Amino acid sequence: MNIKACIFDLDGVIVDTAVYHYKAWKRLANQMGFDFTEHQNEQLKGVSRMASLDLILGWGNITNKTEAEKLELAAQKNEWYTEMIGQMTPAEILPGAREFVQTCRDAGLKTAIGSASKNTPTILNKLELTHLFDAIIDGNSVSIPKPDPEVFLKGAEALGVAPAACVVFEDAIAGIEAAINGDMKTVGIGSPETLTKANIVVSGLDKMSLTILAEL
Ligand code: BG6
Ligand code: MG
Repeated sequence: MNIKACIFDLDGVIVDTAVYHYKAWKRLANQMGFDFTEHQNEQLKGVSRMASLDLILGWGNITNKTEAEKLELAAQKNEWYTEMIGQMTPAEILPGAREFVQTCRDAGLKTAIGSASKNTPTILNKLELTHLFDAIIDGNSVSIPKPDPEVFLKGAEALGVAPAACVVFEDAIAGIEAAINGDMKTVGIGSPETLTKANIVVSGLDKMSLTILAEL
């Protein structure tokens, strides 16, 4: 097989944290006097914390916040969010995720996380998955958000594998684009109608196998 490494996005691929992000952002929006829908929340998947805040403020037509106020708002949201993820257990790992990562490792492939989230270490710790990854590249170590390939290129470099021998697993359009921009193969997690640019799309890691990987 040409593939030597698998790089996994975290939120939406290994665990469904979107519901917690949504609750915390919604609480913040409500506090400012407006609301947004779960459908709008879809647009926040894979988007960095500050970029998410900008989108949400836009939905509420709030244009008067200074940079300092925005940082405070994001910090407040993160406090509510970390309270919720602090309660997470391994039971919340998405179906097949742990098993597939282990299968890759047993087959001699390198594994890494490539996530925009600064809370990646906490989440992996709560899910008891940290030991399954040879490298963890997250929002604390990248400066340019997806669709820039920085996060995945840093992952490939940390693993010592050429980008063309890496497969990225992603649930967000910007994440698939980031991987393509980094010259990597892509597996979309979600629906083929949304993730049109991915090499293949599956509904979850429970549908993945080494055979599918080898065909990429
Ligand atoms: C991404 C999520 O993985 O991380 C986004 O899909 C989130 O919804 C982003 O905004 C940043 O996360 P955090 O935990 O650093 O606020
Ligand atoms: Mg994601």
